[in-house]
Amino acid sequence: MAKLSTDAIHGHGHRDALGSHIPPIYLGVIYEYIDYESGDAIFIDRGNYLRYGREENPTTRALERVVAKLENTEDALAFNSGMAAISTTFLWRLRPGDRIVIPMELYSSTIVLLNNLAEKLSLKIAKVWPSAEAIVEAVDSKTSMVFIETMTNPTNKVIDLEYLYKHLDLSKTLLVVDNTFTTPVILKPVKYGAHLVVHSMTKYFGGHNDVVGGVVAGSKSYTTALWDWRRMLGGILQPFESYMILRGVKTLEVRFEKHSRNAQAIAEYLADHPRIEEVMYPGLKSSPYHEIAKKIFEKPLFGGVISFKIKGTYQDAIKFLKRLKVIRRCPSLGGTESMAVLPVKAGSMFIEPEDRVKLGITENLVRLSVGLEDVEDLKEDISQALNI
Ligand SMILES: Cc1ncc(COP(=O)(O)O)c(C=O)c1O
Repeated sequence: MAKLSTDAIHGHGHRDALGSHIPPIYLGVIYEYIDYESGDAIFIDRGNYLRYGREENPTTRALERVVAKLENTEDALAFNSGMAAISTTFLWRLRPGDRIVIPMELYSSTIVLLNNLAEKLSLKIAKVWPSAEAIVEAVDSKTSMVFIETMTNPTNKVIDLEYLYKHLDLSKTLLVVDNTFTTPVILKPVKYGAHLVVHSMTKYFGGHNDVVGGVVAGSKSYTTALWDWRRMLGGILQPFESYMILRGVKTLEVRFEKHSRNAQAIAEYLADHPRIEEVMYPGLKSSPYHEIAKKIFEKPLFGGVISFKIKGTYQDAIKFLKRLKVIRRCPSLGGTESMAVLPVKAGSMFIEPEDRVKLGITENLVRLSVGLEDVEDLKEDISQALNI
C-alpha cells in the first residue's frame, strides 16, 4: 500500500490517451447514452453511469478516489461545501424521532443545522461534554448517530477515539467523524471504527483559502445510499473546484507538517508570554489533551490551530487583533495565510452561553489558524500586537 503523499499525488489514477497524468477539468455536463432506451452510458468505477453533471463528473471522481485512499475507505463523495456534505448526510440518515449524541462544542453551523432539523424531525439531541467518556455515557439503545469532531473548535479538546472505539457498540450507532482539524496526515478515524469521515475541504485539503468544498468518505454500503441524496439535493462538487482541491491535496502532507511546526513554536512562545493567561494547544506538554493526542495521532504533529486567552478583557483582545500586521483578521482555517478571530464573535456564537463558560470560550479568547509564513515573522507580529 502506498504512503499518504504518494496517494495524494497519484491516487486519482488518471491516465489518458494523450499520456497526461493530470486529470483535466471536465466542464461538460452531458454524456452520450450508449443505449437510448435504457439510458445506459459510460460506466464509471463507482458503479454508476456517467450521464449528467449533477450525478457524476470525472474530475470530481478523480478527487474522490484520492480522498478515499487518504482516509483508507472504499469510497468518497465530494460536495460543494463542508456543510453540504454534513447536511446531506443528516438528511439521508436521520429519521423523525431519532436520537443523536454530539459534543456541546461543535462547528457552529453544524449545531444550527441540527437545531433546525430537530424542530422539523422531532430529533432528540443530547449535547454532552466533549470527551469520549461523556459520549459513551450518553449513548443509549435509541441513539442512531454520534457526530463528533476529532479536535474541538475553538478550544482544541481532543476526543479519545480509542476509548470510544472500545466502549461504543458500533453495530447499533452510526459514528460520523469530522476530521477537518486533524486530516488523515495524523488521524484516520476509520481505524477507530468511524463509519463515515467528513471534511470541510475548504480548510487543509484545499489549503489556499481559494476554494470551498466538502467530502464524506466511507464504505460503499453507505456512499451508495448517500449518492442518491447528493443527486436529489444537488450538492455535487463542481469540476473547477474539484481540480483546485486535487491540486491542493498533493501538498497536504508537507503543508500540514509546516502548519503544525509553526503552530507548535508559536504555542510554546505564547505559553511563556507574560501577557497570556492560557494557551489551548494539544502539542504543549502542559495541555490536558497532550497524552490523548500523542496516543491517537499518527505523528508528533498537533495541527495548525491554537487558541489563547489574552490577560485582560474583550477590549484587550480586540486591540490585539487590530494591531496585527501579518496575521489577517478572517474566519476559516487551514490555509496558507495565518488568520485570527475572536470565537465569541465568530464561530462559537451558537454554542449555548452557559456551555461556552464551561468550555472556556471567554471574551478574551483568540483563535489563531497558523499559516505557512516564516514563523519568526509570525512571532514578531504577535509580539508587537501583544505590546498593548
Ligand atoms: C470542523 C468544520 N466542519 C465543517 C465546516 C463547514 O465547512 P464549509 O465551510 O466548507 O461548509 C467547518 C467550517 O469552518 C469546520 O470548521
